[in-house]
Amino acid sequence: MRRKLAAGNWKMNGTAGDLAELEALSRTYPSPSVDVLICPPATLIHRAAQTVGEAGIKIGGQDCHTASSGAHTGDISAEMLMDAGASMVILGHSERREDHAEQNEDVRAKARAVMDAGLKAIICVGESLEQREAANTLDIIGGQMSGSIPDQSTGENLIVAYEPIWAIGTGKVPTLDEIGEVHDFIRARLERRFGEGVGRSVRLLYGGSVKPGNAADIFAVSNVDGALVGGASLKADDFSGIIDALQNA
Ligand code: PGA
Repeated sequence: MRRKLAAGNWKMNGTAGDLAELEALSRTYPSPSVDVLICPPATLIHRAAQTVGEAGIKIGGQDCHTASSGAHTGDISAEMLMDAGASMVILGHSERREDHAEQNEDVRAKARAVMDAGLKAIICVGESLEQREAANTLDIIGGQMSGSIPDQSTGENLIVAYEPIWAIGTGKVPTLDEIGEVHDFIRARLERRFGEGVGRSVRLLYGGSVKPGNAADIFAVSNVDGALVGGASLKADDFSGIIDALQNA
């Protein structure tokens, strides 16, 4: 069975005072029946890890460099994230692909670095509105998967997040059928490439305007093993609604 995962991506939000939200979450979920992950900005990872302590909540990074160390001013390696207390790293988020022109090959190299360091990679894929309207969604997702997911992937070190770009931070969500179509497609592609055993063990997250109000419906869709949540992960109250929906799914 795939363990469900509620992952929060704080993006470039949060300073020390916001750790109170994490503390509240940690109190509410001392040992959640699903995986709960918060990916704060890099500056907070160490303090976030200290805040949750040995509690059930996991801490992750939002990106990393491909190398483990070296002359790369401003960059952070997977080893450093792990040292600070992270156990997972989001890679290839559409905001990284856009803001930093990250290509599939970059994401793949970063994912290798994350997996080599012993961390789990959450690799994001997703189509733009133009691509969906041109009926290219599955081609785009398939291409991103082939290009971004490394050969060494397993159900242990890989999580795939489907995030339609037009649904991120917009309040717009695909229909449940549309989510199901893409998740079934991702599952089939993983099984074809890695074999049924590995393909079936990789967790698939949906991301894009997930809120407490729509989470239960989304979690009932086939091959949805959890969510990658931006805005609604910033406040413990909102994120709790999503965690509860996942625990009850
Ligand atoms: P959102 O962001 O939940 O604010 O739409 C999702 C994401 O970018 O992971």
